[in-house]
Amino acid sequence: MLSPKANQIRQMFSSIAPWYDFLNHLLSLNFDRSWRRQAVSVLSDKIDNKKAQCLDLCCGTGDLTVEIIKQGTANVISTDFSHSMLVLNSQKTKKYQLKKRVQIIETDALKLPFQTESFDALGIAFGLRNLENYSEGLLEMFRVLKPKGRIVILEFSKPNNFIFNKIFQFYFLNVLPAIGKQISGHQNAYNYLPNSVTQFPDQIKLCKLLSDSGFSQVNYMNLSGGIAAIHSGIKS
Ligand SMILES: C[S@@+](CC[C@H](N)C(=O)[O-])C[C@H]1O[C@@H](n2cnc3c(N)ncnc32)[C@H](O)[C@@H]1O
Repeated sequence: MLSPKANQIRQMFSSIAPWYDFLNHLLSLNFDRSWRRQAVSVLSDKIDNKKAQCLDLCCGTGDLTVEIIKQGTANVISTDFSHSMLVLNSQKTKKYQLKKRVQIIETDALKLPFQTESFDALGIAFGLRNLENYSEGLLEMFRVLKPKGRIVILEFSKPNNFIFNKIFQFYFLNVLPAIGKQISGHQNAYNYLPNSVTQFPDQIKLCKLLSDSGFSQVNYMNLSGGIAAIHSGIKS
């Protein structure tokens, strides 16, 4: 059973699902595509094997899944709790003829229906921020990874240059919600985005959360001046 807050988040994502890809690419000026590409490249040694199993958690419409398939030979399980997002994901994997290598499962990221030590690699793009409890989510990710399995997290982060940060904050807090609302017709979702990013741990704090969850070789790489960051770690 989902908590009322998680249920609200699920409903919010389901309501914007038809606009999700279009607005993602528009509002990020298409940078999201290269961010996902770079995130998946961090998993390269783990997904370059036909027998490897990779989990795309909080997969939404499946853009990270498609990128994993493009860059590696692993099989991918793509999971999310929004049915509407998964319908679009399924259409996308069908369009790109990836069905054979992708399995889509509707589930809560905090209670994964997988055995301990099931995956060689795990990617989560713009998903961790939405979980009700980041530590609980990371522990669940740690559980399902095999020993030596790698996690990669792509998430919005904190730009490190003061002036750039001010300009970005103006865009993120004012321009982005206005455009998001205008196009999708949903004000809440595009106010939720900057609010959830503001509450999310910065680069260093997220490294600590990963280490505290048991991951080793934890490190991060800023993208576009720190607007987003890629964090990674190994289950040792
Ligand atoms: C911002 S979207 C990211 C989608 C995709 N990974 C991408 O790169 O565009 C966040 C997704 O996380 C999903 N999500 C949020 N909380 C979740 C949870 N507890 N369990 C499963 N999915 C969740 C939402 O339904 C939504 O599809």
